[in-house]
Amino acid sequence: MSLASTFRLARRLAVIGLGLTVLVAAVPPCRAETSVAVNASGLSDAEIESRITDLLGRMTLEEKIGQMFSNGWGPEFDEGEVSKGRVGMVSTVEEPEVMARLQRLARGSRLGIPLIFARDALHGYRTLAPVPLGLAATFDADTIRAVGRITGREASSQGLHLTFSPMIDVTRDPRWGRVVEGPGEDPFLASVFSRAMVEGLASGGLRATLKHFVGYGAVRAGRDYAEAEISTPTLADLHLPPFRAGIEAGAQIVMAAFSVLNGVPVTADHRLLTDLLRKEWGFDGIVVSDWDAVRELMPHGVAGSRAEAVEKAVMAGIDVEMAGGLYREQLPGLVASGRVPMARIDEAVRRVLRVKFRFGLFDRARTPEVDPVVAARAMATPEIRAVALEAARRSIILLKNEGGPDAGLLPLTRPPKRIAVIGAAAKDAGDLMGSWGAKGDRADVTLFADALRDRLAPKGVRVRYAEGCDDACLKTGGFEAAVGLAKRSDLVVAVLGEPWYMTAESTSRTRLGLPNRQQALLDRLAATGKPVVLIVLAGRPMVMVDAWPKARAILYAFSPGTMGGEALVDVLTGAVDPSGRLPMSLPRAVGQIPITYDLLPTGRPPSPGDTLAARYLDEETTPFLPFGHGLSYTRFAYSDLSVETPTVPLDGVARVSVTVTDTGARAGREIVQLYVHDVVASRSRPLRQLKGIAVVDLEPGEAKRVTIAVPVAELGFSDDDGRRVIEPGRFDVFVGGSSAATLTTAFEVVK
Ligand code: BGC
Repeated sequence: MSLASTFRLARRLAVIGLGLTVLVAAVPPCRAETSVAVNASGLSDAEIESRITDLLGRMTLEEKIGQMFSNGWGPEFDEGEVSKGRVGMVSTVEEPEVMARLQRLARGSRLGIPLIFARDALHGYRTLAPVPLGLAATFDADTIRAVGRITGREASSQGLHLTFSPMIDVTRDPRWGRVVEGPGEDPFLASVFSRAMVEGLASGGLRATLKHFVGYGAVRAGRDYAEAEISTPTLADLHLPPFRAGIEAGAQIVMAAFSVLNGVPVTADHRLLTDLLRKEWGFDGIVVSDWDAVRELMPHGVAGSRAEAVEKAVMAGIDVEMAGGLYREQLPGLVASGRVPMARIDEAVRRVLRVKFRFGLFDRARTPEVDPVVAARAMATPEIRAVALEAARRSIILLKNEGGPDAGLLPLTRPPKRIAVIGAAAKDAGDLMGSWGAKGDRADVTLFADALRDRLAPKGVRVRYAEGCDDACLKTGGFEAAVGLAKRSDLVVAVLGEPWYMTAESTSRTRLGLPNRQQALLDRLAATGKPVVLIVLAGRPMVMVDAWPKARAILYAFSPGTMGGEALVDVLTGAVDPSGRLPMSLPRAVGQIPITYDLLPTGRPPSPGDTLAARYLDEETTPFLPFGHGLSYTRFAYSDLSVETPTVPLDGVARVSVTVTDTGARAGREIVQLYVHDVVASRSRPLRQLKGIAVVDLEPGEAKRVTIAVPVAELGFSDDDGRRVIEPGRFDVFVGGSSAATLTTAFEVVK
């Protein structure tokens, strides 16, 4: 069975599976959005294609090439080119007036071909939700979809049509700064993320770009812009599924990675961009390059001239060049010399026009000009802020609460009279907002220290603040004042971690503990003997080993966004039960990286005293905290794990049920996770793979029966040629609150 047909089968089964998934008595946390149709033009596919054929017949070569380039907006932008119909897409533009003016020029040009306006909006536009890694930490498709919708609503209200998001690179190396932009280490969660974000954005009126196709998330040693080596089966099983899921959800733009995969820069890789994406998957939208990536084929050493770089990129399958300007410069000559056939130009332009038709851009009634007054009122509305707040609450992870739900320091339901808040991040809007802030506005943010003070003042609590050190924490001058305040308080809340600018593009790091002198500050605070709650704000998983013993409770938040200060207070005070779960394993040491939960078994499993087993001499082999980990303020018990039928046919669906009970004294939200292990197969299979998630809200003492459907097609894997195989045999099932779940059962897949 080809990759494409297997995916089609998997999709059909997934649809069946989703339809039958029974989440008994569990109410979906946010209402699911209805996704917008791929074709929103009101025209049939045949009508669109014939309109395109007509336009292509009338376009000059210059006009065609104009559609194959995404201009950046800036002082050097030539509006006259728009009037001449030689511009197809404008990126990085944000003013509604400018977009309206440019669109008028484009619609008034000879053939009236409209522009696409695009900008990066990864986790909100003005109202920021948690960064994507934080959204992944919710483990909740409905939350991700809702964030997509508010992102879409704000951005489209300004006149934007397209965002360069979601980034769905599976990321397994926290040294890579771009882990902040993606869904973390797991392909199942990444696919849930991809689908939900594409649907959510579209329901808000903004179209998605799936990036970076493919393998950028696996750059060697986490060095940004480095190369990746990925075997065919790993590419097919780990890195491609989120792209497939996003395309199935309706994404019509794919951005090629500007990194090198298996020796070939993806920008020049015909096998990936054309053979796989177009021929096998049938993708008929636009492939856009990443920023300046066509020119970068020269420093990559696969093109000796600008002309050769363009020829390689365009012939590999890059339809639209982002930045660089080489297509416009080189394509006329390459077409004249026959090195790039006109048919390839027409093919690329057809794809661009097709997407413009599908977006409804040729129909002024469907895409009317934005009124700047209306646009100004459309952002940061109470409803949009409420969605961002809820997403932020759900993204926060309780890593540690010494004493557990009964005797833990958290939640602060009866807070002590004097609380010291320490750390620059407690008063920094940027650290809440995170990287890729789009139009995020610091004025919209309530700082954490202020939010805590305002919340607790009515209870007679004095919340006082000392910086300790600035965000980079290179100097210790502020330590004494912070320690003095800690001594005069009953509780210390230290807000530390990575400043927001330490995770994004080109921010690889080799040391992942608290940066610079932050650990020394935490040590000093702990030495006062006052109880310490540590809040880590960061964009990547950090090595928490040294910080761990210094705090009695630890909350971890991947930059939680505009409403993050309020959300942290909600979780700290117990107004909300923490339900964030780790979307990437936390390593014990940088030397363990990459470390993920889905390792293959080894012939020599670690065993105490065995000197010839898989081990490190100086460290455990397990992560510090596993994928999926996160605590609650209550306790959950799992019981009565069962499978509906002990055998399931190859084209069937396994239904696994479990009872989850809140055995604590508080209401809580559990993220039920289902993992499988294919016990004997033709290839060695991961010890565990996530295959199902259910979000369950429980009152104290309440029990719910949860059923998760697992289509057998999702249990297959790829062979050396990337062909998908599903083999009969026994599958072990593990269900619980993290990838370390112990409750187990099994079913047999039969022919
Ligand atoms: C990034 C892309 C981004 C583009 C435009 C590039 O440097 O790799 O992810 O969409 O810039 O901002």
